[in-house]
Amino acid sequence: MNEVLSGGITNAGAVLRRGEIVDRPAQPHAPAIHRFLEALPKHGFTAAPKPVGLADGREQLTYVPGDVALMPYPAWSMTEAALTSLGALLRRFHHASSAIALEPGVPWATDLADPRGGTILCHSDTCVENVVFRDGEAYGLIDFDMAAPGRPLWDLAMAARYWAPMLDPETAAESPSYVGLDPVRRLRILADGYQMSAEDRAEFLNVIEEVAVVERAELAARVEAGDTALVKAFNDHSGWATWDRQQAWLADQHATFLAALIR
Ligand SMILES: Nc1ncnc2c1ncn2[C@@H]1O[C@H](COP(=O)(O)OP(=O)(O)O)[C@@H](O)[C@H]1O
Ligand SMILES: [Mg+2]
Repeated sequence: MNEVLSGGITNAGAVLRRGEIVDRPAQPHAPAIHRFLEALPKHGFTAAPKPVGLADGREQLTYVPGDVALMPYPAWSMTEAALTSLGALLRRFHHASSAIALEPGVPWATDLADPRGGTILCHSDTCVENVVFRDGEAYGLIDFDMAAPGRPLWDLAMAARYWAPMLDPETAAESPSYVGLDPVRRLRILADGYQMSAEDRAEFLNVIEEVAVVERAELAARVEAGDTALVKAFNDHSGWATWDRQQAWLADQHATFLAALIR
């Protein structure tokens, strides 16, 4: 029996669960992703799906039991303990990823990739819907479609955007999931959970601003391509005006966030 799994936008309706198996559309570079997912547990990271099969443009992976928060995000997913555990999870993931040699010549996804590249494979899509929780703590990472070489900070910056969230108050207030959250305090909690170095803390805000630029370009490409559901959502949220406001706010609050990170 197939159960449709919801959470993503890209593969909406096309991700199926059959018992312990998730069956989903495969990326052109799925063989390389599968080799990476095979290697992760050998380097101590067991909280990602394990590849099971790949044929006819579909891939099969193990289902990671637990809870995934979907919009509107339930309270348990936005607690400070959840954020601390997310930081720790990303640290464990990067520790394992840094031990796996980057395969040369792989056409990794470029959509959300770190424009500066890097020496480890980043997840590059650390949104709320791609994290599996157990008992209120971030346990596992799923959906490696966007994985690409990058700086470890790239995953943290992407996570900050969705979990702090790094959104101006007006935009944040549009989502019931984010009501009452203090992004300045929460960014610090994420960095502490990751045990972020002083050097990385000093650079973090710059990377967050780069993520906003890359996400904006990715959205523009999808709008351009005429993704109907997306274009409607985009127009309902006042289009680029929202992005202008978000980016202006980020630049304006840069010093405040930085002070909280390095205090
Ligand atoms: N291996 C897995 N283990 C547990 N849940 C999964 C797994 N793969 C997908 N899901 C669930 O299905 C949803 C959509 O799958 P995902 O692979 O993230 O698709 P998309 O590429 O559209 O984002 C996820 O948000 C999650 O709720
Ligand atoms: Mg997803």
